[in-house]
Amino acid sequence: MNVLGIETSCDETAAAVVKDGKHILSNIISSSLQFHKKYGGIIPEIAFRMQLEAITGVVNCAVEDAGITAKEVDLISVTSSPGLMGSLLTGLSFAEALSFSLNTPLVKVNHLYSHIYAGFLEKDIPKFPVIALVVSGGHTSIFYLKSYTSITLMGSTHDDACGEAFDKVAKILGLGYPGGPVIERESKKGNPKSVKFGCSRTKNDLDFSFSGIKTAVLYYLRKKNIAQAPRPGLKADICASFQETVINTLIEKTLLASKRKKVKNFIVAGGVAANGHLREKFIQAAGENNLRCFFPAQRLCTDNAAMVAGFGYRVFKKEKVS
Ligand code: KG4
Ligand code: ZN
Repeated sequence: MNVLGIETSCDETAAAVVKDGKHILSNIISSSLQFHKKYGGIIPEIAFRMQLEAITGVVNCAVEDAGITAKEVDLISVTSSPGLMGSLLTGLSFAEALSFSLNTPLVKVNHLYSHIYAGFLEKDIPKFPVIALVVSGGHTSIFYLKSYTSITLMGSTHDDACGEAFDKVAKILGLGYPGGPVIERESKKGNPKSVKFGCSRTKNDLDFSFSGIKTAVLYYLRKKNIAQAPRPGLKADICASFQETVINTLIEKTLLASKRKKVKNFIVAGGVAANGHLREKFIQAAGENNLRCFFPAQRLCTDNAAMVAGFGYRVFKKEKVS
């Protein structure tokens, strides 16, 4: 079954064709990121206006790249939530119109569940039940999965999302947008033990809070800048210490969720899961605790439509059309 995935929840306009929920035949991503950079974050109006312009070309390209015709698409899967309203509407309206004109069934899927599914697009996949940590620019959540589509929320962030914290700390340090990749790069030059940061505690121990650590970075930098001229390497040390603290918190909560549910396998997905240091530390922690950790390929951690097509196939098999 050829599934056309359409993803427009944030700044990307993405389309992909995935066969039988497994084989990626094409995966096209067009991003408006360069137009947002100077604002230090995504501007919704810019995002959806660019998506309106890009979507026809991106979908055509995905179908062509897959070596099929539009008539050979058996199912359309589109992200319906969560995300930016105008952006979601662009993808949804396009998908509905396409479904109507081609007389092809349509499923509307959850963006976070699609992020998790990216972990099942690999060769080596976990057996159910599975714990899934989704760490993206808009969300930080831990889920319990009994199957591809039986998904229960165990904890989520009270304030900033994990990726958002990376983005805001990078902005505070004047490192540009998006913050995740630059902080990862800068951290390689710094000492992760040089500054003692901490993530705020939460009432539900599987919830997260990242706004406190972001503010702590801001105050630390202010104090250092006022007290003395910033020494060389200060930014790298702050990045490394911030990154280490955040990763340790993510590991601690994921292990706790696995222990609570007596689950041996977990997936870490979403944009922040592209972080190489995070991947190494998670694998090490899993090994030490007799657990197995799975990740999507790095290019499938950030927003893409292959994960939407893949998850859509599972939803269709289980629940039929939206
Ligand atoms: O999943 P995603 O592409 O979009 C959302 O659904 O939000 O995630 C984007 C987020 C951004 O906040 C970005 O800074 C972060 O993922 N990110 C990273 C890395 N690459 C992207 N964070 C840490 N390290 C990275 N290498
Ligand atoms: Zn995402």
